[in-house]
Amino acid sequence: MKKTLLITGGAGFIGSHVVRLFVNKYPDYKIVNLDLLTYAGNLENLKDVENAPNYVFERADICDAAAMTALFTQYNFDGVIHLAAESHVDRSITDPNAFIETNVMGTANLLNAARTLWKGNYEGKRFYHVSTDEVYGSLGETGFFLETTPYDPQSPYSASKAASDHLVRAYGNTYHLPFVITNCSNNYGPNQFPEKLIPLFINNIVNNKPLPVYGDGKYTRDWLYVVDHARAIDMVYHDGKDGETYNIGGFNEWQNIELIKLMCEKMDEKLGRRPGTSAQLLTYVKDRPGHDRRYAIDASKINKELGWAPSVTFEEGLSQTIDWYLGNDEWLNHVTSGDYQNYYSSQYAHR
Ligand code: NAD
Ligand code: TYD
Repeated sequence: MKKTLLITGGAGFIGSHVVRLFVNKYPDYKIVNLDLLTYAGNLENLKDVENAPNYVFERADICDAAAMTALFTQYNFDGVIHLAAESHVDRSITDPNAFIETNVMGTANLLNAARTLWKGNYEGKRFYHVSTDEVYGSLGETGFFLETTPYDPQSPYSASKAASDHLVRAYGNTYHLPFVITNCSNNYGPNQFPEKLIPLFINNIVNNKPLPVYGDGKYTRDWLYVVDHARAIDMVYHDGKDGETYNIGGFNEWQNIELIKLMCEKMDEKLGRRPGTSAQLLTYVKDRPGHDRRYAIDASKINKELGWAPSVTFEEGLSQTIDWYLGNDEWLNHVTSGDYQNYYSSQYAHR
C-alpha cells in the first residue's frame, strides 16, 4: 500500500461518499474509516465497499484521546480527512454540548494524535479538515462568502465548527502541521439522514405527512450534490496547497419555499399523484431560533486553482436523489425507526 489514510465520519452522509470514492479510485491506498456510529452513522451506506481489500472500519470515538493516539500509532497514517462531527443545526440548539465535545474536543484530539505521531516530520503528511460555509454567518440579499470573509458563526453548530477550523489553523501556525480546510455549502444526495431539509421532506411526502416550513420559507441555501463535494475533497486532498482554505459551493441558490415546491412537483410526477397533491402538505411552522437568512458560496478559487466545478445539474441531482430514496425504502425504514420517532416528536411537536 502506498499510503494509509484515515477518514473520520466515513459512515455518515458525506463521509460515506468520500470513502467510496477513495476506496474505488485508489486501490493502492489503505482507507481506514473511523466512526462512532452515532444515530447519523450507518454502515449500510458502505455495503458496496465493505469487503474491499484496501478498506478497514474502526469503531471509535474521536472524543477519546487515548483511543485516537492508539489508532494513529497502530496505522501510522500518512493523511487524515476529518469529517466526523455533530452536523445538524436544530440538534445543536437543543444540545449544544454534544457539538462542543465532538466538533471542538474531538478535532483537538485528532490534531494532537497527528502531531504526536508525525513528530515534526511532515514530509508527505496532510491533515484535511472538512468544514462548512456556516462559519461565515448569514448573508443579506446580495454578496457571497469568500475564503477571506470574516468568521461570524451564529448557531452552536457553526460556532463549534468555527472553533475547530481555528484550532486546525493554530496547529498549522504553531506546530507547522500541514493542513488544508474546505468550507462547503449545503449538500444533498443519497444516504443523507432524514433530519435535514431535502430527505426529511421526501420522507414526509411519501408518507403524506405535513411539510414543516420554518418561518416565512424565504431562507436561502446554496445546494451541492454530495458526489461533487466528494470529488472536490479528492482534488483538494491531492492538489490543494498546504495552509490554504477553499470554499466549495454549487453556484445554486434556492429559497426554501421554491425548492420545496419543486420537490413537491417532482414527487407528484414520480409517485403518479395528481399535480398539486404533495404541495397541500406544506405547513408553515415556528421558525428556528437564530435562523441564518442566506448562504451563498463564491467557489471561484477552487475552480481556478484546481479546476473543480460541479458535474451534476440541480435538476439531475434532485431527481437522482428522489429516485434513490424511493428505491431504498428499507434504508429509510431502518433509519426512521426507533430513536428517529422520538427525535421527530420532540423537534416538531411544538412548532
Ligand atoms: P453526518 O451527521 O451525516 O455524519 C457524521 C458522521 O460522524 C456520522 O457517521 C457519525 O457517526 C460520525 N460521528 C459523530 N460523532 C462522532 C464521534 N464522536 N466520533 C467518531 N465519529 C463520530 O454529517 P455529514 O452531513 O456527512 O457532514 C460531514 C462533515 O461535513 C461534517 O464535519 C460537517 O460539518 C461537514 N459539512 C456538512 C455539510 C452538509 O450539508 N451536510 C456541508 C458542509 C460541511
Ligand atoms: P437544514 O437541512 O437543516 O440545513 P442548514 O440549516 O444547515 O442549512 O435546513 C436547510 C434549510 O431548510 C434551513 O433554512 C432550515 C429549513 N428547514 C425547514 O424549513 N424545515 C425543516 O423541517 C428543516 C429540517 C429545515
